[in-house]
Amino acid sequence: MASEHEGSIANILEQDTLKWVFVGGKGGVGKTTCSSIISIQLARVRSSVLIISTDPAHNLSDAFQQRFTKTPTLVNGFTNLFAMEVDPNVENDDLPNGEGMDSFVSELANAIPGIDEAMSFAEMLKLVQTMDYSVIVFDTAPTGHTLRLLQFPSTLEKGLGKLMSLKNKFGGLISQMSTLFGVGDEFGEEAILGKLEGMKDVIEQVNKQFKNPDLTTFICVCIPEFLSLYETERLVQELTKFEIDTHNIIINQVLFDEEGVESKLLKARMRMQQKYLDQFYMLYDDFNITKLPLLQEEVCGVQALKDFSHHFITPYQPAITKGTVEGVEKRIVILKQQLEEAEADLEKLKKGK
Ligand SMILES: Nc1ncnc2c1ncn2[C@@H]1O[C@H](COP(=O)(O)OP(=O)(O)OP(=O)(O)O)[C@@H](O)[C@H]1O
Ligand SMILES: [Mg+2]
Repeated sequence: MASEHEGSIANILEQDTLKWVFVGGKGGVGKTTCSSIISIQLARVRSSVLIISTDPAHNLSDAFQQRFTKTPTLVNGFTNLFAMEVDPNVENDDLPNGEGMDSFVSELANAIPGIDEAMSFAEMLKLVQTMDYSVIVFDTAPTGHTLRLLQFPSTLEKGLGKLMSLKNKFGGLISQMSTLFGVGDEFGEEAILGKLEGMKDVIEQVNKQFKNPDLTTFICVCIPEFLSLYETERLVQELTKFEIDTHNIIINQVLFDEEGVESKLLKARMRMQQKYLDQFYMLYDDFNITKLPLLQEEVCGVQALKDFSHHFITPYQPAITKGTVEGVEKRIVILKQQLEEAEADLEKLKKGK
């Protein structure tokens, strides 16, 4: 499976059953850049694509240089690519369909830690599901957070399941709860149960979908350094534990030596990177591994994203290959330039004295 698509995300574009694509990894490795490009690539082959950021630090707006909100907005220059930024920590009353649940949910939130975040995540998924996008890409928050969100359906399912069975055992429990939570008459036992049952349905459905490798996959983004390798391994293990499919790794910020000029620092960094690259290839030989070059500049705006997106499909080839006639010729040109610059600097300094 891997060899056929080695060095690209072509397998993701070809898997037309995919509905949920999660992109995650350590902070600052390039999750937003990669998820944005993956959504751009998917928009070429799918009828409609939605990219969602669940990172409270919201940086889709930076990457696309366009402001996004919690409602899907068409990305400039596209007809079928939409983006939205949601805050997993928002108050529930900010969410649609949550009316009347506020006090109940906030009380529940105190009782079961993390349930408020889970609820708003579930509400968001419910909302997104009704919107009928062909595929939904998630630009997730740094590792720990993502895993917590993915874990929520199971946590919540268990909690709600318990609540339901309690309700069956003790009929009056729910009405007691409504009094306790002060939700009053306008929000009776039936309504609460209805909401909870509805929520449970969504969560069960989503849980099933997330665990189905035909529908869901998780793309790990990392850089060739020890900490990132370590975090990726942790991430892959957790995903396996939650039965969430993962078979793509993107290694970003790889140094390719195309300066033509010797640099001790660059050489040392490249040696270090190579060590971890080798380990990535060894550990994940059944994964599709995509290597992306470290650019001189940031990847900002639709055009920059589009330009960079080629390396997601065709493995990157450095412009200069060392040890060839062209390589040496280029090196001489660069060295001559540098010599001229140094001579000009010297002239300036001498005149200044
Ligand atoms: N290969 C690359 N070469 C040069 N710059 C890059 C590359 N990949 C990403 N960047 C830049 O690095 C910065 C961080 O990238 P990005 O925002 O995608 O990371 P992130 O993992 O989403 O970060 P965070 O964890 O803060 O959300 C951005 O300014 C981006 O333009
Ligand atoms: Mg980001």
